[in-house]
Amino acid sequence: MQDLKKYIEDNKDRFLEELFELIRIPSISSKEAHKDDMYKAAEWVKESLLKKGADKAEVCDTEGHPVVYGEKTINPDLPTVIIYGHYDVQPVEPLELWKSEPFQPEIRDGKIFARGADDDKGQMFMHFAAFEYLLKTDQLPCNVKFMIEGEEEIGSPSLGKFLKDNREKLAGDVILVSDTAMLGQDTPSITTGLRGLSYCEVHVTGPNRDLHSGLYGGAVANPVNILCDMISSLVDENGRITVKGFYDDVEELSDEERKEMARAPFDEEGYKKSIGVKELKGEKGYSTLERTGIRPSLDVNGIWGGYTEKGAKTVLPSEAHAKISMRLVPHQNSEKITQLFKDHFLSIAPDCVKVEVQFLHGGEGYVSPTDTPEYQAASKAYEESYGIKPVPYRSGGSIPIISMFEQILGIKSILMGFGLETDAIHSPNENYPLSQFYKGMETIPHFYKFFAEMKK
Ligand code: BES
Ligand code: MN
Ligand code: MN
Repeated sequence: MQDLKKYIEDNKDRFLEELFELIRIPSISSKEAHKDDMYKAAEWVKESLLKKGADKAEVCDTEGHPVVYGEKTINPDLPTVIIYGHYDVQPVEPLELWKSEPFQPEIRDGKIFARGADDDKGQMFMHFAAFEYLLKTDQLPCNVKFMIEGEEEIGSPSLGKFLKDNREKLAGDVILVSDTAMLGQDTPSITTGLRGLSYCEVHVTGPNRDLHSGLYGGAVANPVNILCDMISSLVDENGRITVKGFYDDVEELSDEERKEMARAPFDEEGYKKSIGVKELKGEKGYSTLERTGIRPSLDVNGIWGGYTEKGAKTVLPSEAHAKISMRLVPHQNSEKITQLFKDHFLSIAPDCVKVEVQFLHGGEGYVSPTDTPEYQAASKAYEESYGIKPVPYRSGGSIPIISMFEQILGIKSILMGFGLETDAIHSPNENYPLSQFYKGMETIPHFYKFFAEMKK
């Protein structure tokens, strides 16, 4: 592509400054206090699309946070690429673990440090820059639509309705998403799988008030102890989830497919080192990439109850709570699993406590085939900018709306993620290497070119 590297080089500081403007808006979708920031971020996205040359861009109200829609039509006969991304971010706590302010982006060691630097403001902005380049240099070979939401991190509760209400407006040939990771800086890869999700909160109630742990301890069930027992029985010594019926629909891969998967280069030592653990743990009989890519998992995301402030208080708590998520694989249905979990969790509750299970959110996984024009176009795009063929791999993360794109709009997605495992998304000191930011901009335009050629 003409002058692509030069264009990025000439404009790299401005691109960075633009991204920083967006990052400085603390658009935390899960917090009521940030409602205005969500609008500010949506407005910023809209203005940015217009500045970059979209024919139109609008902030569309929903029952939750707004969706930004934008479009550029070159010629109705050309294929249409829909760019999906999200401008919302996760909360930043614990704040004391951040080396710099989460919403004051800072460059250290060639990386942008800030909440949203990777997930997904940084990755999304690569598409804005690529769009600008293609338009400015008169090389945009497709029509483009943008659908940028503000509720991805809370399970996209309003986007399903937005899709149903805007089926015609959202007609297109492919949905292109950069909201996943690559296997390594020098290992370009295309995410071909995402896991589904079922996320529940459980509540265990014992005595009608907190009790003196000396006067009552030993005679009355302690909800925290009970909850711990219940939770620890959910995964057995082989790393198998004990919820009845849980594995019934799990897709079993053939030996052939597993062999193919095992070819993806994976540095297990580096992986352990980067997260500071000596040993890994998971389902027996499966490799690490299989455990996150093709096997389901169950984790406690948070647990609380009793006295957790400084110092000691001798108390036998009245209540205990936990947030439990299950990551699901192809053919497992999120609603069905949620029901199985509820039934199972209630069935193991002893009579000395009251147990409730509340569903928070969930969604289906996604598998993207590799024999499609969009996969081939993406593959060639990486080959063009990295000089090697990317490897397909299934990620453990979830973007539940991707399966709804297919269900509601009938459009497949292609996941060209440029994040790295070390980016600490959702964690303190989230970061995004500048090299990934610019390499993404350099790869995306090739996708448009190859996709247009293949669709001819
Ligand atoms: N971008 C992530 C998902 C992701 C990251 C997938 C890296 C693959 C590789 C997305 O923003 C996210 O965090 N999704 C949530 C699910 C959502 C329903 C809260 C997740 O996976 O926890
Ligand atoms: Mn994301
Ligand atoms: Mn996220």
